[in-house]
Amino acid sequence: CGIVGYIGEQNASSILVDGLTKLEYRGYDSAGLALMEKSGIEIERSVGKLINLKNQIAQKHFTAVLGIGHTRWATHGKPSFENAHPHRSNELTVVHNGIIENYLELKQFLLSKGYGFTSETDTEVVAHLIHENYEGDLLKSVQKTLKQVHGSYGLAIISEKEPDKIIIARKDSPLVIGVGEGEMFAASDIPAVLAHTRKFIFMDDGDVACLTKDGYQIYDKNDIPVTREMRTIDWNPVMAEKAGYSHFMQKEIHEQPRAIIDTIRGKFSLEQGTIGGELLEGIQHRIKDFNRIVIVACGTSWHAGLIGKFYIEKFAKIPVEVDIASEFRYRDLVIDDKTLFVAITQSGETADTLSAMRIAKKMGAAVAAVCNVVGSSVSREADSTVYTHAGPEIGVASTKAFTTQVASLFLFALQLAQTKKTMTPDQIRHYLKELVRVPEVIEKTLKHEDYILSLAKKFKDAKDFLYLGRNVNYPIALEGALKLKEISYIHAEGYPAGEMKHGPIALIDENLPVFIICPQSSVYEKIASNVQEVKSRDGIVLAVVTEGDTGLDALADHKIEIPAIAEELSVFPAVVVTQIFSYYVASLLGLDVDQPRNLAKSVTVE
Ligand code: G6P
Repeated sequence: CGIVGYIGEQNASSILVDGLTKLEYRGYDSAGLALMEKSGIEIERSVGKLINLKNQIAQKHFTAVLGIGHTRWATHGKPSFENAHPHRSNELTVVHNGIIENYLELKQFLLSKGYGFTSETDTEVVAHLIHENYEGDLLKSVQKTLKQVHGSYGLAIISEKEPDKIIIARKDSPLVIGVGEGEMFAASDIPAVLAHTRKFIFMDDGDVACLTKDGYQIYDKNDIPVTREMRTIDWNPVMAEKAGYSHFMQKEIHEQPRAIIDTIRGKFSLEQGTIGGELLEGIQHRIKDFNRIVIVACGTSWHAGLIGKFYIEKFAKIPVEVDIASEFRYRDLVIDDKTLFVAITQSGETADTLSAMRIAKKMGAAVAAVCNVVGSSVSREADSTVYTHAGPEIGVASTKAFTTQVASLFLFALQLAQTKKTMTPDQIRHYLKELVRVPEVIEKTLKHEDYILSLAKKFKDAKDFLYLGRNVNYPIALEGALKLKEISYIHAEGYPAGEMKHGPIALIDENLPVFIICPQSSVYEKIASNVQEVKSRDGIVLAVVTEGDTGLDALADHKIEIPAIAEELSVFPAVVVTQIFSYYVASLLGLDVDQPRNLAKSVTVE
């Protein structure tokens, strides 16, 4: 979900709607605004995409200079008009991200006090409880309420009784204050208000703040006034727009060479064959003690983790486990102070990943993060954060965030190897020289876009796809399949090619397209025989091969060439091929590429 708030002198409704437009990728089954009009608070809500709310508002004349807005991604209660935010309790209204765990118990209490409920949301409970606690001071009633609720929240509250302020609060859900001149903003995500200010304050968990047009005051979880650091964000608002491409996803695919350069820049010396910089800051003194690394992530970031395992074990000889965060957090874990825990998360706000990290930290592990969002919850709680510099990623299906994660993990593994002396500077230099070629290798791969589009046209009506890869490219098979599923709604399965014979081979017939990632590598011969297995069962082979390789010509129905590069780094051009393919299949099918159904960019609830 997304939250935005405004207080100042401009027309609040247009600033809020603009802000929500920038947040829509966070969730979009309904949206709404609460505006402090002269006659009292006006609420406008609408189900479906934001355009519905925009049309509704365009017919009215609002003059409010204060308001709050929300885009919703259903958690409690189905997507519906009644459940859309904001929620009202008498003279006050609330928007909320997150989950209130004890809402049933609170609801019983409020029912007994005579409150009526019009929605199934946990948010309405918060609204009534703040009202119930109100004794002439909105800030105090919010602070009191937050001590009674358990769970996670980003909240913004306004009241007709105190029409010149917005109260906001956060716990385990992102919320920032944007500082302007004579105006203040609140947002769950920076791009929402980046067009108006570059100055941001990241609230800590448990903080509550009171915003007025001329300033703000933050209180910590014990209600003590505190100051939090103000940061200037250098993202350009146009960076968050489509820049001539049809979709954000397409733009983001094309941004990858630049994003990778930004990510690896300044972190190594080619001449000396050494890695330095921020990578291991904060955990350097513990490195010698680590006997194990545990990588935890969700979705596409988990796939990056699987590649990270390959790099770290190969280069630094440290055993690595890779886990899905929602599995990790509910298991009997063997973790101690000799474990290095690495969370990989584009947003830094994924609830499962954040909780997994907290568990590992509690058990004594050193915790590091690979993250794209400065000031996010994960980056603030980790002992050390490696930032990917992908810039804002708007398309729900992750592309440039993934490749920059992989580039970061590659450097991270080399730096571990350097520290543990498992590689010589010459060996490290060899790999760095290859890494530096990655942006250009991706550029060259992007030149095959038209050819990949022609394949997308051919196969867009297929019902199923199989993606196969081995070794470092096995995670690319998983990622290729995930990308296709996410945006085209075509069923696709990613599998280790050598495991195909133990099951998925039963699916193969003349209707099944099989994407095989088989660049020149140490396992080329092995995967070539898997291609043979597919072909002898009449499957349709789409082979991703190294430029000039003719070894599979007799077997492949279609071949997509990628430039030669070290085997470990062939994942970059290979994944780009699968990204472009998925992108075109989905757009040829006329689907909403950037906002696929049922998905959210950042899942801040369990
Ligand atoms: C959501 C997104 C995925 C993403 C996953 C993890 O499900 O739709 O694209 O891979 O969350 O997100 P994170 O921000 O933690 O990398």
